[in-house]
Amino acid sequence: MEIALAAKKKNRARRHLAVLLLLLACACAGIAPASGAGGRWDLQQRSIGVSAMHMQLLHNDRVIIFDRTDFGHSNLSLPDGRCRVNPRERVLPQGDCTAHSVEYDVAANAFRPLFVFTDTWCSSGTVAPDGTLVQTGGWNDGFRNARTMPACSDGDESCDWSETQDALSANRWYATNQILPDGRAFIIGGRRQFSYEFYPKAGPSDTSVIPMPFLVQTRDPEENNLYPFVHLNIDGNLFIFSNNRAVLLDYSSNKIVRTYPVLGDGDPRNYPSSGSSVLLPLKPNPTEAEVLVCGGAPAGSYNSTKQQGGTAGAFVPALTTCGRIKITDATPAWVIETMPSPRVMGDMILLPNGAEVAIINGAADGTAGWESAKTPAYAPVVYRPDHSPGDRFEEQNAAGVARLYHSSAVLLRDGRLLVGGSNPHTYYNFSNVQFPTDLSLEAFSPEYLDASNDMLRPRILDPSPTGAPATVGYGATMAIRFLVPALARRRRGGRAGGLGDVSVTMVAPSFTTHSFAMNQRLLFLDVTKNVAVRGRAGAFSASVTMPATAVLAPPGYYMLFVVNGHIPSEGIWVKIQAQ
Ligand SMILES: *[C@@H]1O[C@H](CO)[C@@H](O)[C@H](O)[C@H]1NC(C)=O
Ligand SMILES: *[C@@H]1O[C@H](CO)[C@@H](O)[C@H](O)[C@H]1NC(C)=O
Ligand SMILES: *[C@@H]1O[C@H](CO)[C@@H](O)[C@H](O)[C@H]1NC(C)=O
Repeated sequence: MEIALAAKKKNRARRHLAVLLLLLACACAGIAPASGAGGRWDLQQRSIGVSAMHMQLLHNDRVIIFDRTDFGHSNLSLPDGRCRVNPRERVLPQGDCTAHSVEYDVAANAFRPLFVFTDTWCSSGTVAPDGTLVQTGGWNDGFRNARTMPACSDGDESCDWSETQDALSANRWYATNQILPDGRAFIIGGRRQFSYEFYPKAGPSDTSVIPMPFLVQTRDPEENNLYPFVHLNIDGNLFIFSNNRAVLLDYSSNKIVRTYPVLGDGDPRNYPSSGSSVLLPLKPNPTEAEVLVCGGAPAGSYNSTKQQGGTAGAFVPALTTCGRIKITDATPAWVIETMPSPRVMGDMILLPNGAEVAIINGAADGTAGWESAKTPAYAPVVYRPDHSPGDRFEEQNAAGVARLYHSSAVLLRDGRLLVGGSNPHTYYNFSNVQFPTDLSLEAFSPEYLDASNDMLRPRILDPSPTGAPATVGYGATMAIRFLVPALARRRRGGRAGGLGDVSVTMVAPSFTTHSFAMNQRLLFLDVTKNVAVRGRAGAFSASVTMPATAVLAPPGYYMLFVVNGHIPSEGIWVKIQAQ
């Protein structure tokens, strides 16, 4: 994979050609029609039998999906007459022969049931550097468990979850995980857990739990401090947002190294007043990093959804505001921006072009929690961080399905978002309720996937998108060949369209649940060479430099995309590791 940057002189002439093409193409890109509201919805599966409360894409292009085990019977049987007989199960202790997890194969649009033994309700996860999903916590008999799910090989039907009982030191229900540069998971919070811990443990006697007073300070009567938003900063510290403010934690010495101001007027942004948050795309060798937090619910909203003294609950309109902050600043300040509409329980997903953030799912009124929201927010919104303020949000085409509490979304390697779930009830309730438990999977295709962009869409030729993931080291150079169809059709003397502003991005797939995409990370790679390939019209050969350190990109599997203007290619999997 790695190529030496030799023969520079020979390349120089070709580079001049590429620059010329680029300039011509930029001129073309300038007259390309601006697209209005866009995006397309496609139903993938009417029912996968379980509700997609938690989702994680693995590097075999399968999405691991699970909900909770104590909802009663799901709509999917376990294979071979298998049943789960768990005396600690609350609803079906005599036995449950249905599945509560599935493996969804993106390319085949097919799924198979998986077997989880203990309760995974409101849990969290990371993908270990070897590509195995490490899910932690849950409820009841699953409070302290760790479960692993590998990226299974084709046709291996016996490939399934493994569980380790009491692997954690504290109960982790509504906790957040973040992968660290050393590959371990940092696990923070959860209901009545004002602490953090690491997994895997240093050894069998390691039961350490480190108190986190910040979680006590940000606890309010509604407990709006659950599922804190955690982002790994470029200085190696952890940005931790809970309720309405954040701190920067040096986890190796357990010191708060920066305290951020309260966001806006102090309304809560974490569960149950669930907003969402992303670390915005990082530039090559970044010197700054920014975080965006969007939506949430005014203080008191959760309580007001409950009946009080005989009066029916009220669903308060959700927040319309976002806060954006440079977390690397010594004197950081939030800048407030306003979304086109209010939203609680939105999922924020970084799109692979590095130029857009999708805000999808959720509701306009109420909060997270059982029976606590109405007015589904059907239309996703795209946020463009590099546009000027006031010109950043654009509403997209609306979905047909309400995705309220316990819905989720993840980015796929083909650039679509897989969207599923929604179950605001304590059981599977398919009828006689306003918002029935949803078992479907949909794909949202952002505007860049429109067929009208096909000629401009780069296609990666090498490494092969269907081959094994390419392994790369930190700071290493990687060679990529790609094709832009519009340029292949170019005639001598004709116009060179297509190769606009080419960039290369690398995206860590998220563990999404409860409106937060944990471990999500997008890095722009430094493109050190980008030249036309002789004798193959429309083909280009590029070199990119991988991130220099594991602080910038924790080890493991990422999707790499070539982006022409704002149009991403289909991604390829790369595995970054110390070499
Ligand atoms: C789930 O199964 C029940 C019982 O067979 C059926 O009534 C219901 O329509 C199914 N729901 C979905 C969403 O597939
Ligand atoms: C919400 O309700 C709980 C339980 O009734 C109560 O203790 C708390 O003070 C209320 N919080 C707010 C913000 O009204
Ligand atoms: C949901 O289903 C359960 C079990 O079938 C039932 O007891 C409950 O009343 C239903 N909930 C609603 C809101 O209808």
